[in-house]
Amino acid sequence: MGRSGRSGRGCREGRHLATVAAPAPAKECLYNRLGGEKPVKTVIGLFYMKAFTDDRIKHWFEGLNKEKMEMKMAGFLKYGFGAETTYKGRDLTTGHADLVARGLCDADYDVVGELFVASLREAGVPEDLVDEIVTILESCRDAVLGRTAAPAAK
Ligand code: HEM
Repeated sequence: MGRSGRSGRGCREGRHLATVAAPAPAKECLYNRLGGEKPVKTVIGLFYMKAFTDDRIKHWFEGLNKEKMEMKMAGFLKYGFGAETTYKGRDLTTGHADLVARGLCDADYDVVGELFVASLREAGVPEDLVDEIVTILESCRDAVLGRTAAPAAK
């Protein structure tokens, strides 16, 4: 990529190129392009309302506190959608290991994806952002279902 290196801390490559070409404006992270905390929380609320009542997957959520789940997901999506660089909760594999042991599978994952996308559309999220999120959801599949290798040992 050639961005790191000799130019010094806080010094952007683009500045040196200013006489040649204007640097491309930094793209806002997905979280901000969605409108930030409020709209993301709206989506999360819609999503868990569906997840806790959908006959295909509601058994997974039985006995769990919806508000707590919403808070965890809100924290995770700040990270997943690029507003933060770290997530303090359990990683996706650890967080779902008990469920995988009890049979959580691709079909469940597909339903969660379907309900999340329905929630995005219900909240009026534009289709290009929905597409971006579908890609992110798909990239989490193997971690949630315990099919990725554990993070490299330190
Ligand atoms: C896009 C895929 C998914 C993401 C990003 C996601 C995200 C999360 C996060 C961040 C947590 C909290 C982990 C923690 O810190 O404790 C969690 C827990 C949980 N997730 Fe997911 N999840 C996904 C898929 C699924 C699926 C497919 C199901 C079931 C149909 C599911 C059901 C649950 C349940 C029941 C918990 C609570 C587990 C516990 O506390 O024992 N998730 N999820």
